[in-house]
Amino acid sequence: MFTPRPIGHARTPYKQTSKIPKGLGVKHDAEGVLEILPEFEPGLLDIESLSHLYVLWFFDRSEGFDLVGQPPCDDRPHGVFATRSPRRPNPIALTVVELLSRDGNKLRVRGLDMLDGTPILDIKPYLSNVPEEKLRRGWLAEAEARKENQE
Ligand SMILES: C[S@@+](CC[C@H](N)C(=O)[O-])C[C@H]1O[C@@H](n2cnc3c(N)ncnc32)[C@H](O)[C@@H]1O
Repeated sequence: MFTPRPIGHARTPYKQTSKIPKGLGVKHDAEGVLEILPEFEPGLLDIESLSHLYVLWFFDRSEGFDLVGQPPCDDRPHGVFATRSPRRPNPIALTVVELLSRDGNKLRVRGLDMLDGTPILDIKPYLSNVPEEKLRRGWLAEAEARKENQE
């Protein structure tokens, strides 16, 4: 199909996956920098006018996949395409970040959940027009409700 190549790398506070917050309702507020390769810098034109971005990245330290697995936030199995598991057939990740500032080819952002040095594949504007009342969170909402009842 095509051979993906990184457009840059994430500089994050996380050297180990165990340090990245996980679980139901977790809030990612880690700050860091998306360092874009100089050859792609012209592609950042006007990006500072946007508040939030989708960042597509590569699970470069994950191997293999499980079509069904138990995420850390639930005690029940779910299909890989119903989860955000790093162990997927195509190891591609998606994170929404808040753009704090831009300095040339460096984007300072908040909301990172990837390891330091992670290759970035693409960046796009975050534009969600799904109304709140149409959003269905399925098994995640059920897992949250079960957790609340246990507490
Ligand atoms: C649950 S995934 C979610 C990633 C992204 N927000 C998504 O939805 O696709 C985040 C986890 O991936 C793992 N991870 C982070 N960076 C990674 C990397 N570069 N290679 C492999 N696994 C990574 C960590 O265990 C982290 O907690």
